[in-house]
Amino acid sequence: MPARILAVDASRPDPALIREAADMLLAGQLVAFPTETVYGLGADALNAAAVDRVFEAKGRPVDNPTIVHVSTPAALDTIVTVVPPAARMLIAKLWPGPLTLVLPAAPTVPLVTRGGLPTVAVRMPSHAVALALIAAVGCPVAAPSANRSGRPSPTTALHVRDDLGDAVSIILDAGPTPVGVESTVLDLTGEGPVLLRPGGVPLEVLESLLGHVAVAPPGASSLLVRSPGTRYRHYAPHAKVVLVEAPPQRATLELNAAIRRLWDQGLRVGAMVTAESAPALPAGAVVRVMGARSEPAAIAANLFAQLRDLDDAGLDAIVVEGIEERGLGRAVMDRLRRAAGASDVDPGGII
Ligand code: TXA
Ligand code: MG
Repeated sequence: MPARILAVDASRPDPALIREAADMLLAGQLVAFPTETVYGLGADALNAAAVDRVFEAKGRPVDNPTIVHVSTPAALDTIVTVVPPAARMLIAKLWPGPLTLVLPAAPTVPLVTRGGLPTVAVRMPSHAVALALIAAVGCPVAAPSANRSGRPSPTTALHVRDDLGDAVSIILDAGPTPVGVESTVLDLTGEGPVLLRPGGVPLEVLESLLGHVAVAPPGASSLLVRSPGTRYRHYAPHAKVVLVEAPPQRATLELNAAIRRLWDQGLRVGAMVTAESAPALPAGAVVRVMGARSEPAAIAANLFAQLRDLDDAGLDAIVVEGIEERGLGRAVMDRLRRAAGASDVDPGGII
């Protein structure tokens, strides 16, 4: 059966609709819902059969664990064995919000939910719809991004329907998600904090609270064990993504050169560029303006929708302008490098 899309208000969702979706989750069905980052594909985190359905619907490898979502910090006590002082401090300052903490898992969390690991990734989202839904369910909700594995994360209900249509019972539609890139994933199970995935909470913010934060290199072999998801080539459109990284004063020159090179090969070319570069691109290119260089948060908010949009336009190649790795720019560049396949991915793991 195709998914039912239920429109809900983003800040004051109708309790009757939330109840309906919560009852679906309690019955072991899948419900897609908005968070402040991207839409998630939710299942009762403590129901292994329901979480199995999430993996099946996404076509996701079973060793890539989900993020468990809670609606209060107190709910942590049921799913992790220890909450170290650093975690308590971060929770007090940054929850609810786009920060996922990896902590030692309690035995109550089924192995499938945590990809067979002794740890579990947990976050408390700030979106009113997500919070209302989790509270109505009364137990933690496992929710990876609600895309087919290998597609950009969904930032609208229609993206979810396009990817997962029949596999999900209900999609709660509260419009576009405000942050646009996924949560920051921080591992707190080792000696010091390790950033596993840059995301909605900038590294600079974590460093201001924690001091030094180690940054796990994308695709590094040590990371394959610690953050299984990073081994796969995510965010991969069908078109070839060509990432142009140049200092601002050379950006238009290099973007033009990249576009012309691809044209010379007879390819249909699109471009995603900053507002500063857009006016200088050759006529005839299909152009999307990501936002101003000084506003990486706006660029993050547009990123996945524009990648999907250009990919649906039947292009052979998408030329994308790189931005500075500052604030949300770090998460943007991480996703773009992975879309371009530039990271050191495990060749066997490309899906
Ligand atoms: O913003 C988000 O985090 C969204 C929304 C829906 O909350 N969710 C999301 O989930 O992006 P997903 O499954 O697409 O990404 C989860 C990431 C993966 O890279 C996964 O490998 C990592 O978190 N992860 C999950 N559990 C882990 C664990 N126990 N240890 C290390 N990494 C873990
Ligand atoms: Mg994902």
